[in-house]
This record gives sequence, structure tokens and C-alpha cells, in this order.
Amino acid sequence: MKSPKLRLFSGMKPTGRIHIGNYFGALKQFVDLQDTHDTFIFIANLHALTTLPTKDQLLEDTNNLILDYLGAGLDPEKVTLFKQSDVPAHASMTWVFNNLVTVPYLMRAHAYKDAEAKGKELNAGTFDYPVLMASDILLYDTDVVPVGKDQKQHVEYARDIAEKFNHQYGEQFKLPKELILEDTGIIPGTDGQKMSKSYGNTIPLFATDEEITKAVMSIVTDSRERNEVKNPDELVLYQIHKYFNDSVELRNWYAEGLGYGDAKKQLIKDIITFVTPMRERREHFANNPKLVQDILIQGAYKANDIAMKKVFDVYEAVGLTS
Ligand code: TYM
Repeated sequence: MKSPKLRLFSGMKPTGRIHIGNYFGALKQFVDLQDTHDTFIFIANLHALTTLPTKDQLLEDTNNLILDYLGAGLDPEKVTLFKQSDVPAHASMTWVFNNLVTVPYLMRAHAYKDAEAKGKELNAGTFDYPVLMASDILLYDTDVVPVGKDQKQHVEYARDIAEKFNHQYGEQFKLPKELILEDTGIIPGTDGQKMSKSYGNTIPLFATDEEITKAVMSIVTDSRERNEVKNPDELVLYQIHKYFNDSVELRNWYAEGLGYGDAKKQLIKDIITFVTPMRERREHFANNPKLVQDILIQGAYKANDIAMKKVFDVYEAVGLTS
């Protein structure tokens, strides 16, 4: 039976280590909302395949991502956690949706336009990425999709596709809504641009103290003298620091001219304090691979139940089964 709570669906790609942008932009919302929402969080490994990782890399990144989810505080008693590839309905639904979208519509996707601007030749999987993502979301009658701002267009695509299907074949899909928080929609990287694995400007969430120190030391500082900048919000350093320590004391300290060196030292301390309990939780699961495997199997059963039923309804609605 469907829970009376709103259904939340989201996930991340297993493509390298997750960073604090992923955490504050998305993962933290998954954790914060798991008590109040009927929560489904998956590992988007079919999406990761579009980047053509090696087999070993994909397996390793997938294993790390489930540990990251659990370490960050997702409670398997409350959340359905599963791997996209364990639920074949995602690919089946994508084939149905592929026939409802046009090529020019997909050419308007930001990711496509960026690749085109850079003169990159895209594989068909990357071109079709938004349709697979629409399947992920729509299969589960999702109400809310917590994501960072860069995924807004993808959730809009899911809504468009649901509307198009409902119009053509009759009501089957709920219209999902993105959940993007004002303060954390775009977390800046060490160079002040959006933090992104592809820009090499990340602070990994589960890093060693040395790696955290190295990443923090590389955060850009303002070309003006420190005491010329009175408003802390103008400093990339503070823009990042405030996620780990939003105290008035810290803000005042910055406003009074706290030097870059001391501020960085404090930020390193604050990040380590923040991630220590997460590291410990992650370690616990890393030492219990059987437990993690069971969590994913249970999740796959539950997800398959819901997703297969939706595929059957859709196959019936379009005339693929009678
Ligand atoms: P991915 O793996 O690139 O990113 C995971 C989440 O992290 C957010 N994010 C950020 N938020 C704020 N500031 C940043 N600098 C930052 N960088 C990344 C992303 O917005 C995202 O929410 N297409 C998705 C995966 C996906 C998915 C889905 C998500 C596939 N199917 C269905 C939700 C629902 C992606 O590539 O996320």
C-alpha cells in the first residue's frame, strides 16, 4: 500500500568521489527528509555508463556511492536504496518515452548544448540521458525530487514527458516537482565556479585530513587586501565555510578582517569535525559488505515491485499488452 507521506525520489551518478557540492546540494536533503517522506534513493549507474568508465571503475564507484549514502546518514530502515541496473523497468520505460520526445526537444537540453559548444561528439546514451532520468522519476509516482540547480531542467523534462504521455494515452503519471534550496542550489568550488567533478575544483566529502587540507589551501583568495573586503559573502572562502559553520561569531570574525591563512586553518578544522561522524558510519558499513549487499537487494525488490507494475500499466495503455 502506498504510504500517505509524499514520495521523494532522487539519486546520484557513480562517477568518481562525491564532493561537498553533491552533499549540500542534494544528499543532505535526502537525509533531512527521510523521516517525513516516503524516500527512494538510487545509484544512477546506467547514467554513469554514458561516460564509458572501465568495468572496474564503475564497480568501484558504485560500491563507494552506496557507502557514501549510508555514511552521510541515509537509514536503510527508512529509505529504499537500490541500484538502477537492478530494476530493468528504467530502460523499458525509456524506450516508450523515446517515442514521445523529438530530437529538437532533446537538443535543447543544457548538457547537449554544452557538449555541442565544445565540439564534442556525443554518444546516443548521453543524448537520451534526460529521457532515462524522466523514467527514473516517473516510474515511482514521485512527488518531489531534491536536486541541485543544475538538474532543474531534467526534472522539467520529466514533467513534460509525463504530461505528454497522459495527454496521448490517458492518465498514468504524477507530475513531479524539483526541490532546490535557495542557499544550496549551487555550491561554489575552490576556484569560485560551481563545484563540479569535471572542473577539478572539488572538496571531496569523504577525504583524508591531508586531502581536505590540500583542497582548502587551494581555495582562491581575493586579489584585494583582506582588510579591504568587509562583506564576508564576497569571499569564496566564506561562501564555502558557512556551510560548515554558520555561527554569527565566524561571520563577525570574517567581517573584522580574519586573515586568509587563519580562516583556512579554521575551515579545515570545521570540515574535519563535520565529517568525522560520517566517516565512522561509513567505515562501519565498509566493514560489513554483506549488510550493504542485503540493503541493496531489499531495495531492488521493493523498487522492482513498484516499477514493474507501472511498466505493465503503461504497456497496457499503449497497446503493447492486452
Ligand atoms: P550528479 O551525480 O551529477 O549529482 C548529484 C547531485 O548533486 C547536485 N550537485 C550540486 N548541487 C549544488 N552545487 C553543486 N556544485 C553541485 N554539484 C552537483 C546535483 O544537482 C545532483 O542533485 N542526473 C543526476 C543523477 C540522476 C537523478 C535521476 C537525480 C539520474 N536520474 C533522477 C534525481 C532523479 C546527476 O547527474 O547527478
